[in-house]
Amino acid sequence: MTKNNSRERVVSGMRPTGKLHLGHYHGVLKNWLTLQNQYDCFFFIADWHGLTTEYSSPQGIAGSRREILADWLAVGLDPKKATIFVQSDVKEHAELHLLLSMIVPVPWLERVPSYQEMQQELTTKDLSTYGFLGYPLLQTADIILYNANKVPVGVDQVPHIELSREIVRRFNSLYGPLFVEPKPLLTEAPKLLGMDRRKMSKSYDNCLTLSDSAATIEKKVLSAITDPDRKRREDPGNPDVCLIFDYHKLHSEKETIQKIDRECRSAAIGCVEDKKMMAATINKFLDPIRKKREEWLGQTDRMDELLGDGARRARAVAQEMMEKVRKAMKI
Ligand code: TRP
Repeated sequence: MTKNNSRERVVSGMRPTGKLHLGHYHGVLKNWLTLQNQYDCFFFIADWHGLTTEYSSPQGIAGSRREILADWLAVGLDPKKATIFVQSDVKEHAELHLLLSMIVPVPWLERVPSYQEMQQELTTKDLSTYGFLGYPLLQTADIILYNANKVPVGVDQVPHIELSREIVRRFNSLYGPLFVEPKPLLTEAPKLLGMDRRKMSKSYDNCLTLSDSAATIEKKVLSAITDPDRKRREDPGNPDVCLIFDYHKLHSEKETIQKIDRECRSAAIGCVEDKKMMAATINKFLDPIRKKREEWLGQTDRMDELLGDGARRARAVAQEMMEKVRKAMKI
């Protein structure tokens, strides 16, 4: 186990909301792969956070636990380098959440932008719950339980980290300096659209998932909407507005990208041919990932063992911190 305690600590979680897709890979996982070599990383499956919106149909969360782990391992997250676990396996997250709930003013939670936005967006769900309001407080507990210095997140999550910093300041001023203020580690997420040109998201059913078969990837890619102004094969296209071209930029060789750019603009290459090339490139990238994923899913005992080991490592740190918290709060 490579453990170097002088390294700064990073904590990040992912909600288990179904299959992971290329958006997750480019926006989150690729970054975690680098971080695991540079920091003392704690990466976890945030199943309790999943419940805040999925409480009425929790079966999906339980089901995606192994699926997500298989995806993480298949892309190269390494349990020897990072501590990988499931949030609900480390009950200290819940205890700290409860204790922090004593000191957080409710208006601090109500003014977090995602609270209002998600309530408006997810109209089919009743999100007037206590748990949903507390989402960013639980996230704060996740982070400061390990005294993380850095939290890799997308821009949308920055207000959550800001809240964590405010809570740390409040805790430290009430009970003495215990927690460090975490800082967001902003990850540049490349623009990645789903096949219908909307943001790639499970709820739009427009994703290329890491577990899609080669045939499914090809079918999905062939259905993609390219440059809407290029109506006929002989019309020149504009790669700058084409989602397929965005994928080429991430996955194809430099010469290929330049060639497609030229040939699309001069109508030398058609969209179907271009899509076929893109699907083949993505499949080449996904082939080894799919293979490793299947290998892992065939060894569920090993996966459970791995999560058990991760939870033990996380718990050791969390328990030590909770002793200090209880002492500070005279509990
Ligand atoms: N809220 C994060 C998201 O939706 C997931 C998450 C839960 C998280 N706990 C965390 C991220 C702690 C970073 C640190 O993506």
